Amino acid sequence: MSRERLIEMTRHAIGHAQAGTIDQEPDVMKIPAANYYDPDRFDTEVKQIFRRMPLVLAPTAELPNPGDYKAMDAAGMPVLLCRDRDGEVRAFINSCSHRGTAVALDGTGNTSRFICPYHGWTFSQQGKLLGIASQEDFGDIDKTAYGLTPLPVKEQAGIIWGVLDPNSELDITRFLSGYDEMLGNFGFKSWHLFETRTVRGPNWKIAYDGYMDLYHLPVLHRESFGAGGSNQALYYAWGPHQRVISPSRYAHLVDKPETEWPTADLMVGVWTIFPHVSIASFYGGGRSVMLSQLFPGEKPGESFTTQYYLMENEPDEDQAREAHEQFKLLEYVVEVEDYGTGLRQQKALEAGGRDHVLFGRNEGGGHRFHGWVDRLIDADDKELNGLFVG
Ligand code: FES
Ligand SMILES: [Fe+2]
Repeated sequence: MSRERLIEMTRHAIGHAQAGTIDQEPDVMKIPAANYYDPDRFDTEVKQIFRRMPLVLAPTAELPNPGDYKAMDAAGMPVLLCRDRDGEVRAFINSCSHRGTAVALDGTGNTSRFICPYHGWTFSQQGKLLGIASQEDFGDIDKTAYGLTPLPVKEQAGIIWGVLDPNSELDITRFLSGYDEMLGNFGFKSWHLFETRTVRGPNWKIAYDGYMDLYHLPVLHRESFGAGGSNQALYYAWGPHQRVISPSRYAHLVDKPETEWPTADLMVGVWTIFPHVSIASFYGGGRSVMLSQLFPGEKPGESFTTQYYLMENEPDEDQAREAHEQFKLLEYVVEVEDYGTGLRQQKALEAGGRDHVLFGRNEGGGHRFHGWVDRLIDADDKELNGLFVG
């Protein structure tokens, strides 16, 4: 069924390419400049969006084996992800039940149990408290009440989502709105994680605006990607998640019967996962994607993006060299071109240089994204499930 949807989108894009048109929003949209730097607004966004929405915590390829774990900071929350011995992914607040320090230091590894680095309490892969150091000296407590605090987690389409609120009642499947089925066409479950890095950027929404923006490609990226490409975009939405493609990408399929269109060719463009991820296809070293995972920093004008270079197949030596070159180019593209521009934008807006910014009728992705941000800021916990169609 999702291949059907891919074919529909491709047909739609080919139609627009042949007519030389795009879908336009009814009007140009204004967004208050303060949305990008106001500290109260920023705190509210972190609280209402990052602390309530399911977030992409890792690709499956980062924790492929039982015992694999990752400790990370997610929007200020210390999180521990672990694949237990039955292959099920668990997520916890990375905080020991004795006095609260992190039971695992940030990074990845493989372990059968977690030993807290402070006094040595031990926890299982399922988060159970197994052992209290010098139990007789310490005294009696109900061990079953002192496991690690579990977080809602869901692994789907080779991606691991988690919610940072342990009491969340949000249905992750509803939130995904069928988008996970579309992403399933990549087949990430069996892909290979080649390299990762983290880059610093501007306000998280400036970064996310850029993920959905093809309008800038032939201008800002003229040196890196070339000046010859199109600046047009078509957007497709599943709840708050949006895919963006260039209508001109499918010329090579026009004369082929649809049954012969390779699924991989139908997956190009950028797949954003609200509120903080983009996935874009590349071919450096073989079929690959760069998955960018964005988190707000400690202040409005700062974000951190972890980039994962995922490859369909594990590369041989030559392919690894090419993949490395590709990933290196993308570091330059994002850090220098995109985030360099974004940080100058941030600075000028913070200086009070502008009352509002604009999203054109051709930038529908931004219209919908900012609409969702506003909607979620206004929604209380009880309303959340009702916002998503499932
Ligand atoms: S804080 Fe973890 S054992 Fe004391
Ligand atoms: Fe860009």
